[in-house]
Amino acid sequence: MKIGFLTSGGDCQGLNAALRGVAKTLFDAVPYVEIYGIQGGYRGLIDCNWRKMEMHEFSGILREGGTILGTSRQPYKTIRDADDSSNVDRLTTMVKNYHSECLDALVILGGNGTHKTAYALSQYGINIVTLPKTIDNDLHGTDYSFGFDSAVAKATDVIDTLHSTAAAHGRVFVCELMGRKAGWVALYAGIAGGADVILLPEIPYMFESVLEVIEKRNKIGKNFSIIAIAEGAVTKDSVDQPKKRERKAGDISPGMELVRQIDEMLKQDVRLVIPGHFQRGGDPTPTDRVFCSRLGAMAGELVLKRKFGYMVALQGNSIGAIALSEVAGKLKTVPLDCEVLKQARLLGISLGE
Ligand code: F6P
Repeated sequence: MKIGFLTSGGDCQGLNAALRGVAKTLFDAVPYVEIYGIQGGYRGLIDCNWRKMEMHEFSGILREGGTILGTSRQPYKTIRDADDSSNVDRLTTMVKNYHSECLDALVILGGNGTHKTAYALSQYGINIVTLPKTIDNDLHGTDYSFGFDSAVAKATDVIDTLHSTAAAHGRVFVCELMGRKAGWVALYAGIAGGADVILLPEIPYMFESVLEVIEKRNKIGKNFSIIAIAEGAVTKDSVDQPKKRERKAGDISPGMELVRQIDEMLKQDVRLVIPGHFQRGGDPTPTDRVFCSRLGAMAGELVLKRKFGYMVALQGNSIGAIALSEVAGKLKTVPLDCEVLKQARLLGISLGE
């Protein structure tokens, strides 16, 4: 069996742990397995950039952040375009390269965009098993995706640390967390870190509500406030405005905008903290390591059983599998009627409503 491994999209903690899990399962089960590490995500499949890997290369990486294979973003909307030097589109090139290398299957680790391409490849007859990776936790079909727990741990650490300096100076801190379309990281880290306000893309917020919380806290002698805002949060006023182009580095972010407004309205000092890619770096948490190992083992088992066209997933307390057709193109945002939101409100956390 010749199996290609690739990691695609933004990296996160646990990619190596998951790769190790699949490799261990495959190498332990059959002596005739060959693993090909495809470098830099789908780009490596387009460019035939791969190499045969030995079992020892998957040793000692359980706790390593990043990915030993490298990764890249190859937007789904461009996979039917050709590279400049070619007149064949990228999807066709990937299918051709898979066959010319005589691969039996691909094991693909990725998030939403990755799954759209994986499904497209599977529709061309490529044998695929995928693993759900994204700190954003916005992949449909799995209760959690790996990387999320580690990102929440990092983000919580930032909010925890801000408390003492915020209290010392009597300041408002706005902490902008990752999550453009789904606010899972801000919601969980906000609760875990004891934020006073949590602002999510799913619940357009009113600036007046945020001000009210800060003022109320000041009145009862709590001279500092902490606001966790997801990078995709929007105000109620702006939600109906036509969608702007995708945000670029250097643009005013929602956190910056909120700080500007607070500064304009209040006499109190306000500061912005953006942990950014800090949330995606470093070691996976023990929970993510266990999760990735379990997902890896299940993915390996599916390959051995030749059960292709599935993503391995957490369903309740079990690791199961869900068809790629059910996953591709579906975003899992924070449901407005979910218990966590209800409980956050009961805890007195403002969601800016
Ligand atoms: O999709 C994961 C994610 O970390 C998002 O939360 C964030 O908006 C984005 O990736 C950042 O992307 P990049 O690494 O390309 O800057």
